[in-house]
Amino acid sequence: MPDVQYDLEGQRRIYARWAPIYDAVYRRLLADAQRRTAAAAAAAGPDILEVGVGTGLVLPYYPAHCRVVGVDLSEDMLRKAAEKVRGTPLPHVKLIAAMDACRLGFADGVFDAVAVPFVITLVPDPERALDEFARVLKAGGEIVIASKLGHDEGLIPRVEEVVAPLMKRVGWSSAFKISRIARWAKRRGDMEVLGVEPVFPAGFFKLMRLRKGC
Ligand SMILES: C[S@@+](CC[C@H](N)C(=O)[O-])C[C@H]1O[C@@H](n2cnc3c(N)ncnc32)[C@H](O)[C@@H]1O
Repeated sequence: MPDVQYDLEGQRRIYARWAPIYDAVYRRLLADAQRRTAAAAAAAGPDILEVGVGTGLVLPYYPAHCRVVGVDLSEDMLRKAAEKVRGTPLPHVKLIAAMDACRLGFADGVFDAVAVPFVITLVPDPERALDEFARVLKAGGEIVIASKLGHDEGLIPRVEEVVAPLMKRVGWSSAFKISRIARWAKRRGDMEVLGVEPVFPAGFFKLMRLRKGC
């Protein structure tokens, strides 16, 4: 098993550096995917857990009737999210807390949706995190993932392979495949892949939805 603790410390250090500039760099690029993540999560029901809430860029996109809980590993990113919650009327945000995606401090079956925007590819043990998301979901609830997710077959992965070194240099690798999440769902047997949609810009990001069986 990898030294998860060490990796998490690394993530915290990386995001301590990103926190002051994250919104300025990513607000526009990620907005479409974030808006669609929030809409898909809210369509599953009002009780929503956002994992890797970061600086809270997604929070204004949830409809007012939702009850949103946001968790993240990085205290520095969370401080920015807390500033947004204080400075903007976001009454649907009920709690912001420090937490690892792989060790969620919630009871089983309490959320209608787990929104995971731009996080799953960063988690050292994504299957363990996905198990946690499935655990805290109610039956019929959904996991909504937005990320740079790669395909396995066809022309697109070949193009991705050619541009991979450039993408890696700017921090957007295609190494994390859609099929990894689909295999996880198949292994469990109680999670169904509802679909994968291309998202702005030009399908560079993907939105993947999975539903927990009743
Ligand atoms: C690219 S940012 C995305 C932030 C936000 N979801 C958004 O769309 O703007 C990734 C966030 O995931 C958090 N993160 C990384 N690994 C995590 C983990 N294991 N558990 C919880 N949060 C994690 C980071 O601290 C960071 O805030």
